[in-house]
Amino acid sequence: MSFQNIPKVELHLHLEGAAPPQFIASLAREKTIDISKIFDERGAYAYQGFDQFLNTYDAACLPLQSPQDFYRLTLAVLEETAKHGVVYAETFVSPDFCGGGDVTAWREYLAAMSQAASEAERDMGITLKGIITAIRHFGPEQAKTAAKCAAETYGDFVVGFGMAGAEMVGRPKDYAYSFDMAREAGLPLTCHAGEWGGPDMVADTIRDLGVGRIGHGINAVHDPKLLAEIAEKGIVLEVCPGSNVALNAVKSWAAHPIQKLRDAGVAVTVSTDDPPFFHTTMTTEFEMLAKTFGWDEEDFAAVNQTALKAAYCDEATRTNIAKKLESAQ
Ligand code: ADE
Ligand code: ZN
Repeated sequence: MSFQNIPKVELHLHLEGAAPPQFIASLAREKTIDISKIFDERGAYAYQGFDQFLNTYDAACLPLQSPQDFYRLTLAVLEETAKHGVVYAETFVSPDFCGGGDVTAWREYLAAMSQAASEAERDMGITLKGIITAIRHFGPEQAKTAAKCAAETYGDFVVGFGMAGAEMVGRPKDYAYSFDMAREAGLPLTCHAGEWGGPDMVADTIRDLGVGRIGHGINAVHDPKLLAEIAEKGIVLEVCPGSNVALNAVKSWAAHPIQKLRDAGVAVTVSTDDPPFFHTTMTTEFEMLAKTFGWDEEDFAAVNQTALKAAYCDEATRTNIAKKLESAQ
């Protein structure tokens, strides 16, 4: 089976986190910004553990300073993503890194990303939509500016609102104002939870933020009652196994709970999170799922269907992507 050629739907991909390190290094050189310490001797991103990962991530964003930079970033990311058979992706993008949360500036960044996405759709056959993302460790007040940007620009490229960053900062209810604002503007919601936090964090995120999807959510596996609730409510988990192994959120591929989650009737999808940081691609994720859990074509088709159903795009896009998935069967 050629894992690379299977068409794929990816719901959890951080735009800045998907930046090829060579792209960021060359942008930094252009702008004479010294971020050499975030690269190892081979030019890959260097960090140890989740806290350093977040610091390296924030530093890698420093050379991204203009709408034009985000235009180039979006094309660079889509080129990589499309190579691995991804036909539809949703990307987390944060107004904090695009004009500091100012709505007028944000609109310009958004126009640039959206332009790049249209060109990539035409030239590479990949569709990209954006989930506007608050960064948890920037705090609840800053999250409100991200939510405002999302609420003001919902539609077309912008399909949802979410939150990433350091999960153990604050509790979900601290961010409820932002999620309420986005929900009232009509945006569907997702939030990272249960990557580092326990089942209580996942339960509170569902209850206090009213999300339809959870980023990661893997630690829900420790609470059978919560798993039953997630399955019953149809809440979809954006599972990123390679990320979890690379960041040591789980010990190994064999120890990853994705199969247990599926067996409990939970809707699981598969994504890369921040592929160059974790030395992964969607091809690698599929390969490893086949190798570790014996997933076959039927399993991959099922996971794609779950992802497409849970995608936050408009119905015309969903129908179009469904045709692409079918034509490969
Ligand atoms: N931002 C980028 N990747 C992330 C992750 N795995 N967890 C939390 N925030 C992130
Ligand atoms: Zn993530």
